[in-house]
Amino acid sequence: MTAIEAPSRIEPARIENPSSELVDLSLEVVAKAELLGRALHPETAAQLARTVRIMNTYYSNLIEGHNTRPREIEQALDGIEPLDDRRDLKIEAVAHYRVQQNIDERAAAATLPDPASLDFIRQLHRDFYAGATEKMLTIAGNNRSFIMVPGEWRRGNEQDVEVGRHLPPASDRVADFMAYFHRRFAFEPESNEKMLAVGPSRSARLFAMATAHHRFNYIHPFPDGNGRVSRLMSHAMAHAAGIGAHGLWSISRGLARGLAGGPKGRAEYKEYMAWADEQRQGERDGRGNLSRKGLELFTGWFLRVCVDQLDYMGSLFDLDALGGRLKRYVDRHETLPAEAARLLQEALVRGAFERGEAPRITGLPERSARRLLKALTDEGLLASTTEKGAVSLRFPTHALDILFPRLYPEGV
Ligand SMILES: Nc1ncnc2c1ncn2[C@@H]1O[C@H](COP(=O)(O)OP(=O)(O)O)[C@@H](O)[C@H]1O
Ligand SMILES: [Mg+2]
Repeated sequence: MTAIEAPSRIEPARIENPSSELVDLSLEVVAKAELLGRALHPETAAQLARTVRIMNTYYSNLIEGHNTRPREIEQALDGIEPLDDRRDLKIEAVAHYRVQQNIDERAAAATLPDPASLDFIRQLHRDFYAGATEKMLTIAGNNRSFIMVPGEWRRGNEQDVEVGRHLPPASDRVADFMAYFHRRFAFEPESNEKMLAVGPSRSARLFAMATAHHRFNYIHPFPDGNGRVSRLMSHAMAHAAGIGAHGLWSISRGLARGLAGGPKGRAEYKEYMAWADEQRQGERDGRGNLSRKGLELFTGWFLRVCVDQLDYMGSLFDLDALGGRLKRYVDRHETLPAEAARLLQEALVRGAFERGEAPRITGLPERSARRLLKALTDEGLLASTTEKGAVSLRFPTHALDILFPRLYPEGV
């Protein structure tokens, strides 16, 4: 076997002796993830996790160049018209949302499998393409055309890929590379693999979340969909590393926007991925095939992106600030009297309240209070699971500009 086709080509796969800068960053991520959403009522947090999932779906598909707007995603979750000319994009967005929802739910129930296990990764790909049309699965270009089988690794020459300037392993080597990937990135290794694998340490898992993200894309095991699947895998790894914060943040917004903001920030993800593709640069650059420095650069950037996203989400979900923005929403809507803010504040703090409590909360007579409640449910800001049941907060897309500024780029 030539050196280039040996799976150890992905070494160094992990950060073995982290610099103090990387250690400090990892501690910061852990501390911030633990605080995120702590003050929120579980019902409010669950509704926010839904908003975050739509956001993650939007950004992860945007990185692929698929611009499916948040409002479209929200509507598509309720069903997609058969003749809709953006049907394929919507199918893809809904699938992404559902896969993440499943990850979040399994993380909450403590039944999430090892996110580096090959069955799990292949299932992510299968589920992401569930419902995809033949057109969506057709890979064409470079004098070839074939239909991708969801959940199956690349195989055969015609499924070889290029990623920018990087040439991933030949398709017939993917199974071996992924077996090696699992040995190096298993969070829950078999006893005889423990020495090589990540294991239970939280900081080791956090570094592995970053490096596995790159090494997975470096292998590029599927003909297409690697980026989206890797971002879902990273989301699952965040949960498994204990920094998932109940689904209240996710990595895709950060990968899409970078740290610098604007066009420069949008280019960062690809730039840092390319750093980590670099071959080892001489004696002082580790002992693997690839550059240790390049991997450390990527990992530092990835963790700073995590910190930035956690800070931003923390600022959005701060109880006082969110209460203030709910009030601003009411102030800006002439049809809503000032008392509406009291109802929203009550739902924010208590998670839910009974409809019959509206007169007491607002100080309004029964009929006016009932009319106000109806106005807020019509706006989509309050809702209940049963018709007469207790109401809780919702975060409809049309209100996000005011409630969560900068969650999306302007004008989407
Ligand atoms: N230089 C690089 N090295 C490794 N991976 C890269 C590089 N540049 C981009 N990528 C990854 O490749 C992904 C695109 O691969 P692709 O299979 O088309 O995934 P998707 O269809 O989900 O976007 C990007 O989202 C990124 O994660
Ligand atoms: Mg693609």
